[in-house]
Amino acid sequence: MDGNGRWAQRRGLTRNEGHRRGKDSVRAVVEAARELGIPYLSLFAFSNENWLRPSTEVNFLMQLFHRYLLTETKRLMKRDIRVLALGDTTRLAPALRSALKQIVETTANNRSMTLGLALSYGGRQDITAAARRIAEAVAAGTMKPEDVDEATVAGALATAALPDPDLLIRTSGEQRISNFFLFQIAYTELYFTDTLWPDFREREFLQALADYQHRERRFGIVENGVNHHPLRAQN
Ligand code: FPP
Repeated sequence: MDGNGRWAQRRGLTRNEGHRRGKDSVRAVVEAARELGIPYLSLFAFSNENWLRPSTEVNFLMQLFHRYLLTETKRLMKRDIRVLALGDTTRLAPALRSALKQIVETTANNRSMTLGLALSYGGRQDITAAARRIAEAVAAGTMKPEDVDEATVAGALATAALPDPDLLIRTSGEQRISNFFLFQIAYTELYFTDTLWPDFREREFLQALADYQHRERRFGIVENGVNHHPLRAQN
C-alpha cells in the first residue's frame, strides 16, 4: 500500500495525513473484496524495514493501526470477516499487540473472508523463522530431514492458514516486492499501478481484478493448450 507520503506531499499536507487517507482506502478495498466474494485478502501495512522511519511517523502509524482495530471490529464482524495477524507482533507496543490479539480472537469464527494484516512483517524473516522452527523439530526428533518438503515450509510460515496469493497489487509506480511474501508468490500474478494508495479505491481495485482476469496462468506447465495447475493435477 504505497504512496501515502507522496499523495500528501503533492497536496502540501503532512505524510501522516496521507496515511490517514490510506486508512480510508483500506476500508474501501476490504469491503469491495468482501462484496465480490474474494475469500482471502492480505494487506502489507508495515514492514520490518519501516521501523527505521522517523519515530514520529512510526508512532503515528502505530496509533492509526490501533484505532483501525478498535473502530473496525464491528464492521468486520457484521461482514463475517476473520482477521489474521502476520508478522513479528512482539515488536508492537503492548496496547496495539493486545488489540490485535483481541480482534483475531473476536473474529476467529468468521468465514466469509479472511483478512491478513501484515504488521512488522518481512518475507525473509518469515522464511528464516520457518527454517528455525523446522530445524528445532528435526533437532527434537519430531521430524526427519527427508520429510521436509514445500508443504512443511509453507506450513511453518506466518501465512500457514492462507493459500498462495493469486494476485499481488502494488500501488504508486514501485515495481519491487520489497520483502513482502517471497516464498508464497512463486506463481502469483503481479499488478503494478501508478495510482497512489490513498487514491486506490473500489474502481482501481476492480481494474486490477479485470486485468488479472485476462492473464493466462500456466504455473510453468501447458497441457493440450489448457491451463493446468500442478496442485490440482490429481483432481
Ligand atoms: C507506504 O507508503 C505505506 C506505509 C508504510 C503505511 C501503510 C499504512 C496505511 C495504508 C494506513 C492504514 C493501514 C491499516 C491496515 C489500517 P509510503 O508512506 O512510504 O508512501 P511514499 O512512498 O509516497 O512515501
